[in-house]
Amino acid sequence: MEEQNIKNLPGYDSVTLDIEFGRLLKQVEEEAVMLETDEGREAFRLHWLGRKQGKLKSISDVWLKNAPADRKGFVGQRFNELKAKIELRLETKKALKQAMKAIEPLDLSLSVKEGARRLLENELPKIVQERKRRAAKVDHIDVTLPGTVRAPGIEHPLLKTMNEIVRVFHHLGYSTALGPQVESDFYNFEALNFPPNHPARDTQDTLLLAGQNDRPAPARLLMRTHTSPVQIRTMIAEAPPIRIVVPGKVHRNDAADATHSPVFHQVEGLCVDADITFSDLKGTLDHAMKELFGSDVKTRFFPSFFPFTEPSADVQISCIFCAGNGCRKCKNSGWIELLGCGMVDPAVFASVDEQRVVQGKEAAYDPAKITGFAFGMGVERIAMILHGVSEIGQFYSGDMRFLEQFA
Ligand code: PHE
Repeated sequence: MEEQNIKNLPGYDSVTLDIEFGRLLKQVEEEAVMLETDEGREAFRLHWLGRKQGKLKSISDVWLKNAPADRKGFVGQRFNELKAKIELRLETKKALKQAMKAIEPLDLSLSVKEGARRLLENELPKIVQERKRRAAKVDHIDVTLPGTVRAPGIEHPLLKTMNEIVRVFHHLGYSTALGPQVESDFYNFEALNFPPNHPARDTQDTLLLAGQNDRPAPARLLMRTHTSPVQIRTMIAEAPPIRIVVPGKVHRNDAADATHSPVFHQVEGLCVDADITFSDLKGTLDHAMKELFGSDVKTRFFPSFFPFTEPSADVQISCIFCAGNGCRKCKNSGWIELLGCGMVDPAVFASVDEQRVVQGKEAAYDPAKITGFAFGMGVERIAMILHGVSEIGQFYSGDMRFLEQFA
């Protein structure tokens, strides 16, 4: 093999560069016959690309380094083109050999194999070049591009609403209590005065856990249908006075539609002490609704039924969209129904005390001395009203276009 005798370029003008690099390219083509064998390919590689004695290294040392500053770019560009062509030849040949090796053992006629070879010879340079282009894209980091901006996270609109509700009650001296989402029949229904098989259970179509049939009915597990079981858990654990607010996730076997989801959220409240009256309940909820929806909002209480409160009421607020004049949102009634509430039923206190005694605690909920109220509201419903959302599913979609509006 010839010595790597690269002499200084006679000039750095485009014509000279074209001639000199053209000469090199011609050499590359002449030597390409070497590429047919494994040893030949290695020799070719060392001859042109060898790190220490390769021809390109000499060209870089002599031509590139000695180029006047304003011509370096031109020399460099041609140098890179030549290098890419050499590499492409090598890699294409390597890929062709590999492909032919795979085809060789196949039971194909010689002419088919020859056809495949010609096809590959034609196509491989493009394929290899594309592969290199992609690899370069990955390797290359353009530090001038703007970085990936990670926007600071925001509270999900549901959590935000839930926290807003909770905060109103914190300001009234309530503390937060939490309970499990997988609950027993006892806490979710029985202690709340839903007798077994009572039709009131049907209003909360329940998701039951599988494999519970061997257990006694009160111990069977289910997904809690409301946050009210936390009332029971808290009263069993603590004697009055109690003021808790209970945010949490609940589950019902409801078909999803624009306003229903089988998983949703509630905020529950419980206030128990000596001499708690229905007036306290009204005053508390009226204040809370004004805090949440604005001080102009009015409330009204309608008779209702819940097994664990007596009397029970549904609370309505004056429509915040039409100020009570009647519009589509309030179905022209001027009022929007928002939550359920009532005075704690003495039967609930009785089952709490029974359980306290079983656990070796003092009975502390004598209905002759102790009264209380409870309320429960749906977070989704309140968030939808507050933000004018008409599809409950938007809250669970994870769609950034929706969520970003709450940033
Ligand atoms: N737990 C009831 C429900 O989910 C709401 C409620 C809570 C009613 C507390 C009265 C008192 O429908």
